[in-house]
Amino acid sequence: MFIFSNLATSLDGKIASADRGHFYLGTPADRRQMQVLRKRADAILVGASTLRSFRRPMLVAGSKRLPVNVIVSSRLEGLSPEWAFFKRRDLPRILVTTARAPLARRKKFAKFAEIVLIDPKRPAAPQIVQALAKRGIRKLLVEGGGGTMWDFVKAGLLDEIHVTLTPWILGGATAPTLVDGEGFPATRAQRLRIARVRRVKEELFLTYRRV
Ligand SMILES: NC(=O)c1ccc[n+]([C@@H]2O[C@H](COP(=O)([O-])OP(=O)(O)OC[C@H]3O[C@@H](n4cnc5c(N)ncnc54)[C@H](OP(=O)(O)O)[C@@H]3O)[C@@H](O)[C@H]2O)c1
Repeated sequence: MFIFSNLATSLDGKIASADRGHFYLGTPADRRQMQVLRKRADAILVGASTLRSFRRPMLVAGSKRLPVNVIVSSRLEGLSPEWAFFKRRDLPRILVTTARAPLARRKKFAKFAEIVLIDPKRPAAPQIVQALAKRGIRKLLVEGGGGTMWDFVKAGLLDEIHVTLTPWILGGATAPTLVDGEGFPATRAQRLRIARVRRVKEELFLTYRRV
């Protein structure tokens, strides 16, 4: 499976402010780029915190094709079937969760999405990729946030990383960044190679690939 990611960061590497307030870092050019990348994907995956802030389905503008929307959540907590994300009937949805999600909650969401269980004691990303591959997904776009990015980076599963570098400074030690989690020790820092640089006004569209 080809796995790629796309997120916008502030100049200081944050993907949202420390207060997680609603804020678009990118301009319409960034949103157009997001659509270009979404068109290439069979499935789009985000962590539950990203869904909790956006609450909407991840669609491909101007296309009838619906990418499979995949959400990762340990307990399916703090999600509501009332959100626009769950309202669109024809949207294929997968909720990846663990046995820590109470059975009643899994049953409730099974009306709106396929529920895929992973083992929380094992790395998440390889299990997710295996489950999606079985369902015919060949191109997976990871759209964040930083916690979910870490799962894929740690497992060495990202083939291509797209970053829109925007001219904002957000600061904040607790603001989410492009990749969070526990991080690598200095001796295991991951090096990538730059494949593409494009400037549109004040934004840089960067593509990095695995070495
Ligand atoms: N600038 C951008 O391009 C961009 C893109 C995406 C998001 N964002 C922003 O980033 C923020 C969210 O990022 P984030 O890093 O805090 O969170 P996130 O990665 O969106 O979601 C983290 C959540 O995903 C679930 N999850 C992740 N890995 C898991 C695993 N291995 N097993 C089980 N569940 C797992 C957990 O959900 P549960 O808590 O339900 O267990 C976890 O709390 C939001 O403010 C959003 O607006 C910005």
